[in-house]
Amino acid sequence: MNVLGIETSCDETAASVVGPSGVLADIVHTQLIHVEFGGVVPELAARAHVEKVVAVVDACLARSGVSHPDAVCATAGPGLIGAVLVGFCYAKALAAAWDVPFLSVNHLEGHMLSPLLDDPAPEFPFLALVVSGGHTTLYACHGLGEYEILAATVDDAAGEAFDKVARMMGLGYPGGPVIDELAAKGNNRAVDFPHPRVRGTLDWSFSGLKTSVRSHLLKNDRASDEDVAASFQRAAVDCLLDRVKKAAKQTGLRRVVIAGGVAANSELRLRINQMGLEAYVPPRSRCTDNGAMIANVGRLHLMAGRRDNLNAGVRPGWSVAE
Ligand code: KG4
Ligand code: ZN
Repeated sequence: MNVLGIETSCDETAASVVGPSGVLADIVHTQLIHVEFGGVVPELAARAHVEKVVAVVDACLARSGVSHPDAVCATAGPGLIGAVLVGFCYAKALAAAWDVPFLSVNHLEGHMLSPLLDDPAPEFPFLALVVSGGHTTLYACHGLGEYEILAATVDDAAGEAFDKVARMMGLGYPGGPVIDELAAKGNNRAVDFPHPRVRGTLDWSFSGLKTSVRSHLLKNDRASDEDVAASFQRAAVDCLLDRVKKAAKQTGLRRVVIAGGVAANSELRLRINQMGLEAYVPPRSRCTDNGAMIANVGRLHLMAGRRDNLNAGVRPGWSVAE
């Protein structure tokens, strides 16, 4: 079954065709319009998706060699409602025109199962650390559609912390890649930033870490940008991996996947492989938002017999573990 997946939940307009042999085409257009605002502006994102979605899907179909997919799916949430609506409505229109099944896909399930597109792919059950600009959650994935939340952030998402720290340092948006690059040239022991905990849970809190970076930056004898970036990155990765380690111990699950934009981080990618667990780390291009992760999840559910009605609506606050 060749499935077209469309993703427009934030600032990437993306489409992909996934078939029995894997990804046939995967086109991602990243909106640059937000850079000057230091963050994604929802209304501008929606408008920019309207301008690009048809061209991105056309290019994807042409590259895949599949002119008439067997099914169409799209991100229904979570995400920015106006942005989600664009890809979702276009996907439904294509499904109606081609007279093929349509399916709504949860964006976080897309990230979580993106390592299933790789070889070797993890087998259920596994732990999934989904770390993006809007979410930081650790799941126990027992099977397709069977997800349990083990830990989540009580305030900022990890990617948001990277973005906010970069903004404080005047490094632009998105912050993750810039901090990652600067950190490579710095001493990650230069500043001892705190490792906040939420008592009695595996949950994270990143706002305290962000605030302590802000306080440090105001000091007269502050460390260099490289050292601050490296020290902040070490603290953030320490916090993320600490919960993975504890969850692996509590659940007995030894397989772990990382996914979402922050999974592109060099230190996280390196250190998850040094924990004595069976780690699955998708290629960087598959960590940030893309259409292949949506087509992949849609295809898995379609093959399990799921279909959505064409009057299905978007679900901007859709939890993957409801
Ligand atoms: O998954 P994603 O593309 O979009 C959301 O669903 O949010 O994640 C975007 C987030 C941004 O916060 C960005 O700063 C972060 O991922 N990110 C990184 C890196 N590359 C992207 N964070 C740390 N290190 C990176 N190399
Ligand atoms: Zn995402």
